[in-house]
Amino acid sequence: MSASGETAAQLLTQIEAGIAAPDFASFKQRPAKALHSALCESLSQHNRRYYEQDAPSIDDAAYDRLFAALQALEAAFPSLAGVDSPSQRVGGAPLDKFEQAQHLLPMLSLDNAFDADSLLQFDKRIKERLQKAGKPLQPVYVCEPKLDGVALSLLYENGVLQRAATRGDGSVGENITENARTIESVPLQLAGKGFPATLEVRGEVVMPLSAFNLYNQRAEQAGEKTLVNPRNAAAGSLRQLDSRITAQRPLRFFAYSTGYIDDGELPAQHSGVLAALKRWGFLVNEHVQPAAAIEQGIAYCEHIQQLRTGLDYAIDGVVIKVDSFEAQQALGFVSRAPRWAIAYKFPAEEATTTLLDIDWQVGRTGAVTPVAKLEPVFVGGVTVSNATLHNADEIARLDIAIGDRVVIRRAGDVIPQLARKFEAGRGRRKKPAVPAHCPVCGSSIERAEGEAVMRCTGGLLCGAQLKESIVHFASRKAMDIDGLGDKIVEQLVDKGLVSNVADLYSLVHEEVSGLERMADKSAQNLLDALAQSKQTTLPRFLFALGIREVGEATARNLALHFASLEAIYAADRDALLAVDDVGDIVASHIQAFFANTGNKRMIDRLRKAGVQWPALPQTGSNGEAVLAGQTWVVTGKLESMTRDEAKAFLQAQGAKVAGSVSAKTSCVLAGPGAGSKLAKAQQLDVEIIDEAGFLQRFPEASAS
Ligand code: IVH
Repeated sequence: MSASGETAAQLLTQIEAGIAAPDFASFKQRPAKALHSALCESLSQHNRRYYEQDAPSIDDAAYDRLFAALQALEAAFPSLAGVDSPSQRVGGAPLDKFEQAQHLLPMLSLDNAFDADSLLQFDKRIKERLQKAGKPLQPVYVCEPKLDGVALSLLYENGVLQRAATRGDGSVGENITENARTIESVPLQLAGKGFPATLEVRGEVVMPLSAFNLYNQRAEQAGEKTLVNPRNAAAGSLRQLDSRITAQRPLRFFAYSTGYIDDGELPAQHSGVLAALKRWGFLVNEHVQPAAAIEQGIAYCEHIQQLRTGLDYAIDGVVIKVDSFEAQQALGFVSRAPRWAIAYKFPAEEATTTLLDIDWQVGRTGAVTPVAKLEPVFVGGVTVSNATLHNADEIARLDIAIGDRVVIRRAGDVIPQLARKFEAGRGRRKKPAVPAHCPVCGSSIERAEGEAVMRCTGGLLCGAQLKESIVHFASRKAMDIDGLGDKIVEQLVDKGLVSNVADLYSLVHEEVSGLERMADKSAQNLLDALAQSKQTTLPRFLFALGIREVGEATARNLALHFASLEAIYAADRDALLAVDDVGDIVASHIQAFFANTGNKRMIDRLRKAGVQWPALPQTGSNGEAVLAGQTWVVTGKLESMTRDEAKAFLQAQGAKVAGSVSAKTSCVLAGPGAGSKLAKAQQLDVEIIDEAGFLQRFPEASAS
């Protein structure tokens, strides 16, 4: 009861409705505590309804009132804020980068098994080893779903979360504590007692499938980027530098083991540890089961496979572990995986359905690929209505026609494939026609000698290629233009506002806000994102151009090798072939791209619009920075750049820049008005170069 006599539940209803703004300072401890748990409970329930069930039962304003009340109550009673409160999980100021996190014990991986036979062999190996070690012969196993998410290590000191780290390479991960704190199922403070003073808990972060689907539905409506699959979604959400974004991603943490511990003890069995983790406040998967012998473990794999489609999180197999830690210790490890555990991986899933039609889609580089349109079928946990057919030869090889029954296969999160024909359709079968003209722009389709790929010859005059190339230009690993998704690009192109990526940078507010589903604010956000994207890096820019066969890695190699766009323009075939990853075909695509005057004009326009990147260290053929090991001095007045710009450029090439001349100085860049430093250089016989000479040697210095 509060001061005025309401129960916590009544008060909560009034706060939610906005008819009570209690003065928490006048509260007594007991009613404050009761209201606090009611608020926490209610807010987590609303979070779940909003993010996972798509059934919010209150509006945003009411939610905000509850949240504000929680914060005010915690301000008046600071002791309440220490426990697991939603107020602790909203995220904080963004970081510049993640710090490294050294794991106290390495995070290992698991050996795989793909069939029952391999599980029997696993059991046999274990028994042989245990016999040699003089341990009981019949190991008890624990069987668990293998969650398809992201591994996370949580470090607790005296029950308080200190650090959360990703797996990384197993020895060193990233410190993502701020992000992990936003996950409701990560206890900030352990419950109960009996936990070691230092305790590392390991487990898997997943995004529930319901939440994943809902997120994408909402993102699509808002014209924002959608998440690729639940595992990428979990990984991407955990790696946000701004923890406030992570806080809005519905993630769940399942604990599956402990890691490093100190000053305390754990049960002698894995099953005991899982029970303890539950008591301390962790979510442990509900389908974990013991197996008295491997045959039971094999039956468990079948059982889980059947449960799989009904689960609200992705799993890709089963993990079978020896229960006794003593036995685990006797078994030990082989390289990076324990001998006492194995991962049984589910086979690819298949389903039969009817082939309704074949669509021809045009990609960014003009490739025209057939896509099977299917009677929707549930396979591998998702409903599939499209499957890739790769190319026209594949259609012939499969000998399929519209109306046939076909087998769809889906393994892990790869794109569903049309695996084979199951049964020919009745009557006269309609063989799919291979188009001679682009289904989007009508240009002729070409197929190079000996190549399977068919290509639309329309180039960027083809609406499909144009749209795809803009989407690629804007994508996260390219220019990273937030909010420029395919729905928006489609409208921009269809309305004739953009016919070239360079047009993006001349868009004005009225044009953008005139698009469908574009509020004033989102229009401004998009313009801001465009403006922000102008400051980029050479690797990103090269990747964004969408040169055929130049992916992210090749773009980076090119940038590091040549250091400037000018140098890439100027590179001949041999120079290109000297770059890692660049072979004959890639080299000809690069040369063809830069030989195209339309492309050059587009790049000029982009740079005029302000697209720029910091200079990169020029590397010699040995990959070292060109000026590595040299010390330069800059003095006097420069014409085409400031002294600071010249210094930054030199440093970017790997040089040290000193303030005074000595015998160790490699070179002095001297402009008019240079005084004592120039004299000293002459006296010591140090190389001196004027601005013209400097620009001749480093033409890219003025461009940077
Ligand atoms: S135990 C020493 N249990 O699978 C082995 N791992 O290849 C420690 N995983 O990235 C892992 N569900 O994050 C274990 N129930 C489970 C698991 C599980 C998923 C992941 C784990 C790791 C990978 C192992």
